[in-house]
Amino acid sequence: MKVTVSRKAHFNAAHRLYRKDWTDEKNQEIFGKCSNPHYHGHNYELIVHVTGAIDPETGYVIDMKVLKDLIKVEVEDRMDHKNLNEEVPEFFDRIPTAENIVVVIHQLLRPHLDSNHHLKVTLFETPRNYVSYSD
Ligand code: NI
Repeated sequence: MKVTVSRKAHFNAAHRLYRKDWTDEKNQEIFGKCSNPHYHGHNYELIVHVTGAIDPETGYVIDMKVLKDLIKVEVEDRMDHKNLNEEVPEFFDRIPTAENIVVVIHQLLRPHLDSNHHLKVTLFETPRNYVSYSD
C-alpha cells in the first residue's frame, strides 16, 4: 500500500530566457517577453509529492516537518528572491525554463529522500502554466 504525501511551497525569482549564442532577434523570436534583457520575476508555486509505504511504527510515509525543512534548505534558501541566471549555479549554463527548474529541484531533493520513496515535483510558473517531473 502506497500513500502520497504532498507539501506546497513558494518562492519568488527573476529569470531571463536566452541563449548567448543567438542574436537578440532570435532570442526575442523564440522566447518572446521572457527574453527581456532586464529580467522579470515569477511567483513560483511548488508542490513536492513523496510516495511510499506507511511506516508501521510512526504511521508516516515521511515526517512533514522533515519535508518542509528540506524544501526550505534545498529550494527556498537557494532560489527565493534570487536572479536564477546570475545567482544560482545550476542555471549558469542551463536556461531557467520551468522545465529545467523543476528538474533541478528534483535533483536537489532526491539525494535526501529514502531511495524507496517515489518523488514527483510540480512547479507552477503562473497559475495556469505548470510542469512536473518524477523519477
Ligand atoms: Ni518568464
